[in-house]
Amino acid sequence: MALYSEKVMDHFRNPRNVGILEDANGIGEVGNAKCGDIMKMYLKIEDDVIQDVKFETFGCGSAIASSSMATELIKGKPVSEAMQLTNKAVAEALDGLPDYKLHCSVLAEEAIHAALEDYQRKTEKNGKESEKN
Ligand code: FES
Repeated sequence: MALYSEKVMDHFRNPRNVGILEDANGIGEVGNAKCGDIMKMYLKIEDDVIQDVKFETFGCGSAIASSSMATELIKGKPVSEAMQLTNKAVAEALDGLPDYKLHCSVLAEEAIHAALEDYQRKTEKNGKESEKN
């Protein structure tokens, strides 16, 4: 059996949503200290819905495939739904990852959560500032 599923290979070779979102209002960057891989997620959220998402991943093929799949899974979804995204869902959508590569999908979950938290921090702050005015 091949080590990687067709889907992993497809998302690795043709990653979806690669790049930077200049007008992102939620950005999250995470890394794995052991392997040194880094993932950065950019979210453009309007009316509590993820209108657009892009990523930059400096990492292994599984990390690239996981980021790509994760962006596909949350695009167009409400923030509350994206918050529920787990690495398990990412790995399942990729038709599985080898056990020792599961941490790559964890990075995708963490990067999305970090970007959503950044968005929530910013909107809370803006809310408080407009209360003051
Ligand atoms: Fe670390 Fe893939 S080897 S994210």
